[in-house]
Amino acid sequence: MKSPNTTSALNSIQPQRIPEHVAIIMDGNGRWAKSKGHLRLFGHRHGVKTVREIIEAASEIGVKYLTLYAFSTENWNRPQSEVNGLMELLVETIKDETHTLIDKNIRLKTIGNIAQLPDKCNKQLHETVEATKNGNRMTLILALSYSGRWDIIEAVKKIASDVKDGKTLPENINESTLNSALNTGEFPNPDLLIRTSGEQRISNFLLWEIAYSEIHFSHVLWPDFTREDFYKAILDYQSRERRFGKTSDQIPVH
Ligand code: IPE
Ligand code: IPE
Ligand code: MG
Repeated sequence: MKSPNTTSALNSIQPQRIPEHVAIIMDGNGRWAKSKGHLRLFGHRHGVKTVREIIEAASEIGVKYLTLYAFSTENWNRPQSEVNGLMELLVETIKDETHTLIDKNIRLKTIGNIAQLPDKCNKQLHETVEATKNGNRMTLILALSYSGRWDIIEAVKKIASDVKDGKTLPENINESTLNSALNTGEFPNPDLLIRTSGEQRISNFLLWEIAYSEIHFSHVLWPDFTREDFYKAILDYQSRERRFGKTSDQIPVH
């Protein structure tokens, strides 16, 4: 059952202006747990409920791509016990959710240095990516062991090696060369980037891809982030005028 506020926010959304790609920096699990006198992992466990809810909400309103920042390159520097707990939680969750993803027609993809994850995670991810590959309602992209700078460096290495092998000429390198060399090459750039927990920074997320994304910062800690908060982010997005460097007069009226 949706609360009256949630229903009213949902009804205010203009169906013809749904962002095609929403990316989320899911932040605040640790602080949420601490505020309740629990260990950080308790917050991560509760964060999974929000993940489920937001995946469902996004696919219901017609978002085609949802990218979730689940573990950054820099997160490897956290205490080993937290890293291990997060990896366990990842395997468990992906395993448990595979059938729901198939039922809901959602395809799972990953970006990041997946090879760096423990074998068990790697195996489970590959299995679920394969099992959900025909899903065409929405693509769910999990960013794992991911950072924007890492991806750009990997892309530059690929392009440099193509130049070395005579497959590309340096003067022919353009935006689309880099776009397609990135882990995100097959996806459109995010229209909307959401960060929860009140922090207002990018933390090495999709650095190249968010050049023209609208950004919505929410004060809510990720485990408390609701459908209503998500709908509010969509409404905020729909209130923006995306000019891409042009003047307001050049933009068609919606
Ligand atoms: C986000 O929550 C989840 C991950 C980075 C894995 P945090 O764990 O960063 O929570 P805070 O920011 O410390 O509250
Ligand atoms: C960003 O959150 C990474 C993820 C949400 C996975 P962090 O909590 O790691 O970011 P900082 O350290 O506060 O910038
Ligand atoms: Mg954080």
